Amino acid sequence: MVKVQNIAVLTSGGDSPGMNACIRAVVRSCVYHKINAFGIIDGFNGLIRDELIPMGYDDVSNILQRGGTILGTARCKEFHDPAYRKIAAENLKKRNIDGLVIIGGDGSFKGATVFSQEYDVAVIGIPGTIDNDINGTDYAIGFDTAMNTIIRAVDNIRDTASSHHRVFLVEVMGNNSGVLALNTAVSSGAEEVFMPEKKEDLEEIREKIDRAVHANKSSIIIVSEGDQVGGAKEVFNYLQQFGLSDKLRVSILGHIQRGGSPTYLDRLYATLFGEEAVSALLQGRSNLMTAVQGGGVILCNLSVSQQPYQIKNMHYLKLIRKLSVY
Ligand code: F6P
Repeated sequence: MVKVQNIAVLTSGGDSPGMNACIRAVVRSCVYHKINAFGIIDGFNGLIRDELIPMGYDDVSNILQRGGTILGTARCKEFHDPAYRKIAAENLKKRNIDGLVIIGGDGSFKGATVFSQEYDVAVIGIPGTIDNDINGTDYAIGFDTAMNTIIRAVDNIRDTASSHHRVFLVEVMGNNSGVLALNTAVSSGAEEVFMPEKKEDLEEIREKIDRAVHANKSSIIIVSEGDQVGGAKEVFNYLQQFGLSDKLRVSILGHIQRGGSPTYLDRLYATLFGEEAVSALLQGRSNLMTAVQGGGVILCNLSVSQQPYQIKNMHYLKLIRKLSVY
């Protein structure tokens, strides 16, 4: 077995808080093991455009606590094309890069898997997305920070909702996954949640809101951007037909959910994942993903991430209803 000598790291997909802490752990682990580290700019785009920079100890100083990613990130369509993957492979080869660490989501891992099958590059994936919807891991970097940002925002909205006895439809991110919405609803004491995995009984919800409005109560309804109705504005459009719009407000949280200094949990897992990825490459391993299972960090096959993600805590729906009966 030839020991990996040159490792490159990139961040891909939507940025998430903790990515910098992870980059730091990868680079510092390389420094510790006396191997070379490279950072790739703007995800797979940088690999194609040959934007790779050597990184040393000082290059990752003072970044652990910063949100976003110092390397930049992108969703790269070109990487689906074998001709561009060939260019990417040539750019790695000319620097003798034999190990690649991809911090991102399942889409990024798909490209990485194909790439490592085509070319002689060992690949380790590190889950990083606020959506926390990657199969095979209980945790993806950024989720805890995003959840904390969201519940603080919902708390603020609750203050004004209760002062005006209003009903707020608060839209959260998550793409086609309701993980953020479901967990937000439980932890912010929301009265209802709309999410892609759940078919809504709009009439039942309208009645519930009607009762709240007539009882002069405030309510918070969390709407996942990918829910089956079409987001908070569509839910609003439905409800306003019934004369409820006077008491209804829509708040779309948007990209504030993705930024900010990472929480303790994100810094911890980002650091553990980064170190684990470098150790795996040094052991000659490839096509693996760092993951959290049962609270501990493990390595699983990268292909596991390509299976559809299923929310494990759908039973929270009953809890949300149980605690908000009126
Ligand atoms: O995957 C993270 C995420 O924030 C999703 O929740 C959201 O749907 C998407 O990225 C938004 O992407 P963009 O910033 O490209 O609009």
